[in-house]
Amino acid sequence: MKLTYEIKPADELSPLEIAVILNYWEEREWNTLTVEEFKEKFSGSEFHLLRDENSGIYCLTRINFDFKIELNHSVYNICELVGLVSVTKNRGYGQQLLQHIVHNLTTRKIECIGFCAKELRPFYEKCKLSILYNKAEYLQEKIADGQFEANSDDDIVIISIADDQYKLLAGLNEDCIGYLLF
Ligand SMILES: CC(C)(COP(=O)(O)OP(=O)(O)OC[C@H]1O[C@@H](n2cnc3c(N)ncnc32)[C@H](O)[C@@H]1OP(=O)(O)O)[C@@H](O)C(=O)NCCC(=O)NCCS
Repeated sequence: MKLTYEIKPADELSPLEIAVILNYWEEREWNTLTVEEFKEKFSGSEFHLLRDENSGIYCLTRINFDFKIELNHSVYNICELVGLVSVTKNRGYGQQLLQHIVHNLTTRKIECIGFCAKELRPFYEKCKLSILYNKAEYLQEKIADGQFEANSDDDIVIISIADDQYKLLAGLNEDCIGYLLF
C-alpha cells in the first residue's frame, strides 16, 4: 500500500482529522476541545501525517514551533517533535514518518528535537536517530514565575540540528542546565 506524507498546519485540518488526532493522543483534558479551540491551541504547530489514498491516518506527530531553548544565556529556535503515534504498531509506519520528517526539516533548515523515555530508545535507535542519553532532565521547564522543574523524559532525540547546537545539548549536565521556553 502506498502511503503519502503530508504536512498540515492546524487550521487546515478537517474536523474529522482533528477527532482522529485527539482520539490517538489520549490526552483526556484535550478531548473536550472544539475544532476552533484545537486550531487556536495548536496554531503554532504543524501536523506531519502518514496517510493512505483514502485519507486514513497511519501515523502522526506534531512539530511544535511555540518552543525555544535557552542554553548558555542564548535563546535558540529549536522546535519540538511531540505526540508521535502510530495507529498500527510494528508495521514500520513510525520509522517511515520519521524518515520523511528528518528529510523535510533538514531541507528547510529547521532545527528540531524530541524527548523519550528510556523504554522507547530501541525504537529511535532503529530509526537511526542520534540520542543524547539521560540528558532530558537537564532541560528544565518553567512551571511558574521563577520556578523550573526537570523534564520527566530520559533522553533527547535529535531530529534535525546544527553541529553547534548539538554540542551544546550534548554538554548539558547538572552544572550546565538549559531551559525550555514555551
Ligand atoms: C513508538 C511508536 C510511535 C513506534 O511506531 P511503530 O510504527 O510501531 O514503529 P515501527 O514499526 O516503525 O518500528 C521501527 C522499529 O522499531 C522497533 N520498535 C517499535 N516500537 C518499539 C518499542 N516500543 N520498543 C522497542 N522497539 C520498538 C520495531 O520493532 C522496528 O524494528 P525492526 O525495524 O527491527 O522491525 C508506536 O509504538 C506508538 O505509537 N507508541 C505509543 C505512543 C508513543 O509512545 N509515542 C512516542 C513518544 S516518545
